[in-house]
Amino acid sequence: MSARAALLSACALSMLAFALSASDKKALPWEKNRLASGLALYRANCVVCHDIDRPPAESKKLGPSFYQLFRQDKMPLSGVKPSRDYIKTVMQAGFPPIMPAFATTLNDSEIDLILDYIQSK
Ligand code: HEC
Repeated sequence: MSARAALLSACALSMLAFALSASDKKALPWEKNRLASGLALYRANCVVCHDIDRPPAESKKLGPSFYQLFRQDKMPLSGVKPSRDYIKTVMQAGFPPIMPAFATTLNDSEIDLILDYIQSK
């Protein structure tokens, strides 16, 4: 590769890096669609028992509020660190005595969409 070609490709790479770093500040169109789908799934399956726009002190639902969950050190009830793996396990297995299992009603990609939505709040 000539020095000129090397310089040009280095330049192109840095422009690409710049474009990518600038774009991750805003949600990309397909990310917005993912969050909208996650919101719809959350509303259909979770919001009846778990607030997400209301801090725990203002929530009167049966289950704990997931308000800004991923910014907390601990899950409200179990006290473990909030993680996608943990919440996914609870969704699949349920959490006695009240929280139902969703293993037969939500597939992996639906669970992922719900997790993206919870994590975005
Ligand atoms: C019928 C009400 C109900 C629905 C619907 C429900 N949950 Fe729950 N959930 C609860 C209750 C109540 C608890 C507390 C444990 C218990 O008493 O069963 C709980 C606990 C949890 C926990 C554990 C919290 C912790 O601190 O460890 C997670 C995570 C969770 N739910 C996620 C979800 C998600 C995600 C959905 C939607 C897919 C959902 N839940 C739907 C009632 C519900």
